[in-house]
Amino acid sequence: MTPRVLWSAVLAATTAAALLAPGAGPAQQPARPARPPAQQPAPDPHAGHGTPKGWKFTLPKGDPAKGREVFAKLECYACHEVKGERFPAPTEQAKVGPELSQMAPLHEAEYFAEAVLNPSVVIDKGKKYQAPDGSSKMPEFNDSLTVKELIDLVAYLRSLKPGAGGGHRGH
Ligand code: HEC
Repeated sequence: MTPRVLWSAVLAATTAAALLAPGAGPAQQPARPARPPAQQPAPDPHAGHGTPKGWKFTLPKGDPAKGREVFAKLECYACHEVKGERFPAPTEQAKVGPELSQMAPLHEAEYFAEAVLNPSVVIDKGKKYQAPDGSSKMPEFNDSLTVKELIDLVAYLRSLKPGAGGGHRGH
């Protein structure tokens, strides 16, 4: 490298440094704050538009009598005995599910809603309730059920009394 080339390189570097230095000229961008406000974490991630803390989905109250009609219309009894009721006995022997009157005190409404909307999420293992692919043998009824019918159906399931009136029906 000749001294001339070296000198021009030094000049270029000095000029660049001068341009980058704060306050070097009117075209200079204002110095950025260390962290723009938008990037600072909000004190509560749910403040504003987020989901409130402790929020839980709750099903509206339904009408058990109407829910019973839905149960009959969809022939849920084909696979479920309901002690104390006079539905026809289960016919789908290979797909039969649990007796339902005993379930009422065990589960909240939202659990029953899920059992109907998405039967495969929770399945009692080891009771022949699963199809070979691991899904529930219970079919989905989402195409044949309005939301109102679902709400009433759940109210019906919740209203059942364990074994009510079942004393003379075999057990
Ligand atoms: C073809 C048979 C079949 C039909 C029809 C059927 N179920 Fe089921 N059901 C099952 C089986 C098998 C299970 C157990 C496996 C499971 O939990 O998904 C079950 C489970 C349930 C459970 C309990 C879920 C749990 O985890 O405790 C509820 C509640 C239920 N069914 C309600 C209904 C209602 C309401 C209908 C009518 C809309 C219906 N079922 C129709 C077979 C059926």
